[in-house]
Amino acid sequence: MAEQLQRILEECEGRFVSGQVIGRRLGMSRAAVWKQVQGLRRRGFGIEGALGAGYRLLGRPDAIEERELLSLLSHPEFWKAFHFFSVTDSTNSRAVELAGKGAPHGTVVCADAQTAGRGRLGRRWESPPGTNLYLSLLLRPPLDPMQGPRLTLVTAIALAMAVDDVTALRTALKWPNDLYLGGRKTAGILAETAADLDRLRHVVIGIGLNVNADPFSFPEELRDKATSLRFAAGRAFPRATVLARFLDSFAECYSTFLSLGFGALLPEWNRRDVLKGKNVTLRLGEKEVRGNVLGVDESGMLLLRREGESRAEKVASGEILEFER
Ligand code: BTN
Repeated sequence: MAEQLQRILEECEGRFVSGQVIGRRLGMSRAAVWKQVQGLRRRGFGIEGALGAGYRLLGRPDAIEERELLSLLSHPEFWKAFHFFSVTDSTNSRAVELAGKGAPHGTVVCADAQTAGRGRLGRRWESPPGTNLYLSLLLRPPLDPMQGPRLTLVTAIALAMAVDDVTALRTALKWPNDLYLGGRKTAGILAETAADLDRLRHVVIGIGLNVNADPFSFPEELRDKATSLRFAAGRAFPRATVLARFLDSFAECYSTFLSLGFGALLPEWNRRDVLKGKNVTLRLGEKEVRGNVLGVDESGMLLLRREGESRAEKVASGEILEFER
């Protein structure tokens, strides 16, 4: 039904068509037409509705097509396979599944929408269709398991560089996995690792980036905490452009990391580090600790001086619960 409605609106090439006419052609009431229109809007179609005039098509969803994406890449050789879903539960789950079936290093899984997008600490990741990027990278790095967490930071740097490039904004990074614009979170990263004793078997790195979402459409508890590129820059961005720029940036950062180590990327982190010099509350396992952040070291660990201590300690993994703005 939605496809038929789309066809009718497209036939009218931007002119209004009344709800009554649409209803007659589809054999449904005007209320049912309105419901179908809402469905198309949720999928990213721009449809204007005007009393007495009906509906007209203003814009189609910002689709990501594999052919277009490949044509935009400067390092297509890095990426070995692409899997696109219009909707899936979680791209991380799909990528873990593919890893189990032997999918190669450099596999990209991308979805237009997720029904069970996962964030860190068991949180949900809002994943409406048509507006944002939800993707997972499957990697098989020649690294020992201790180095796994650094890939989250490498990904955050690659994403920040790509976002800055495309938008001309300056992204801030919050250790270990968040991107901020204007003091609000715009992207998060969730890495899931499988390892043998001395080697990583695979790493799935999930990236959620709010590209064109309207923050007013976020659930209430996120509205003053989250943002999107569109909101921060005041204009929309084609998702394929942002994705291609990120995949290229990742290919470059990953190669630098493998050949020269995380230290070679540290200046990019430091330029954007939102925590350096700030007092924070950090969750370390079951405990909450307060302290002052000195920065991030060459192995990607957070340097923290706990309250009342004179020496800094290195934190390999933890969650920042609060930080000074
Ligand atoms: C965070 O909590 O900040 C991490 C969010 C990671 C969300 C992305 S969206 C694509 C991928 N699939 C998931 O289920 N989660 C990650």
